[in-house]
Amino acid sequence: MKELRVGIIGYGFMGRTHSNAFRRVNNFFDLEYQPVLKAVCARDAGKAKRFAETWGYQSVETDWRKLIGRDDIDLIDIASPNNTHAEIAIAAAKAGKMILCEKPLALNGPEAEKMVAAVQKAKIPNMVWYNYRRVPAVTMAKQLIDEGRLGRIFHYRAKFLQDWTISADLPQGGTALWRLDAKVAGSGVTGDLLAHCIDTAMWLNGSIDTVTAMTETFIKERKHNLTGKMEKVTIDDASAFLARFSNGSLATFESTRYARGHKALYTLEINGEHASIAWDLHDLHRLQYFDHRDEGKLRGWRSIHVTDSDQPYMKNWWVPGLQIGYEHTFVHQVADFIQGLQDGQMASPTFKDGLATDYVTDAVLASAKSKQWVKVKKVK
Ligand SMILES: NC(=O)c1ccc[n+]([C@@H]2O[C@H](COP(=O)([O-])OP(=O)(O)OC[C@H]3O[C@@H](n4cnc5c(N)ncnc54)[C@H](O)[C@@H]3O)[C@@H](O)[C@H]2O)c1
Repeated sequence: MKELRVGIIGYGFMGRTHSNAFRRVNNFFDLEYQPVLKAVCARDAGKAKRFAETWGYQSVETDWRKLIGRDDIDLIDIASPNNTHAEIAIAAAKAGKMILCEKPLALNGPEAEKMVAAVQKAKIPNMVWYNYRRVPAVTMAKQLIDEGRLGRIFHYRAKFLQDWTISADLPQGGTALWRLDAKVAGSGVTGDLLAHCIDTAMWLNGSIDTVTAMTETFIKERKHNLTGKMEKVTIDDASAFLARFSNGSLATFESTRYARGHKALYTLEINGEHASIAWDLHDLHRLQYFDHRDEGKLRGWRSIHVTDSDQPYMKNWWVPGLQIGYEHTFVHQVADFIQGLQDGQMASPTFKDGLATDYVTDAVLASAKSKQWVKVKKVK
């Protein structure tokens, strides 16, 4: 088997999901390449070493530039906060490394454009970790839509609700709380959570033309962990927008970290002329499907348990009826990336797809500011 030598940057939440995926992919997918965990890079050498021991990385780096400079690494995996993505990816592309980058691709569209230009110039395989595309039930939704089962699409509805920043005592910035610091995160829920909803939406339903949005920052000041001072909060705590897709359908998107009782409630619903689809991250192995063409007396919502071997990805796992979970979406992403290398056809979402999502989040934030409809820039 050919080696795919991985250097990962960041050992946090995503560092773990990616490492798990690299380790497990060959146990479940028949591929020509095997990821080899060469090095983990993070600024704290002690913690990075413990992470390396837990996950089986052969070495540790504390400066990502050194990692990129190594000849024994083929692929750089960026699992660090958003403000690090562009600089690392551009340097990695120049060094001729393949790149997997966490979402959102960059802090904003203009920064993401430079990343796309860098990977295109270097002609290197690249991908963004919008993992929800690879929940089998979501992949199946894509198949049903592409088969034309829904007919003309009228509506797309997505929500991503959390409740972990309601306390005014929660500080902002630094380890674990960088998401509340706009300089590091780029934006609040728009770039963090709605970016997922937008990526899935454009994959399922095509591009978005225009948006009108509102955002709110409910807690105006929080203590900053790095300065110890009370500082203005500049992220959006909540964001909601209306959108028009290029195919003529209308959409609503909503995200907040102030929906008491909801931890990661990502839901989507699509209503077409013949059929509708609904999906819920808290019940991720099920796809809800309603088809008006069913015989009248039996017509109703079907709750499809997506676990059978003729459903996406499931032949690689257990026996029908036994479900898989969140971590498997990352395994699927690595499997598809490798399959893409073998086929000479890059798996999506590529950096270009990530840029398209950044253009939508830019438009959402601009609209919230101007209180006007904003046209979404299109990727060339
Ligand atoms: N695909 C998803 O569903 C998903 C979920 C969560 C996070 N993310 C994205 O993944 C990225 C990381 O998020 P997370 O939740 O894992 O964060 P985290 O805070 O858990 O981990 C971040 C890691 O980056 C390291 N780091 C920070 N600056 C660094 C630098 N300059 N050099 C090297 N290492 C550095 C930190 O030490 C830490 O190990 C973000 O871009 C985030 O938006 C994606």
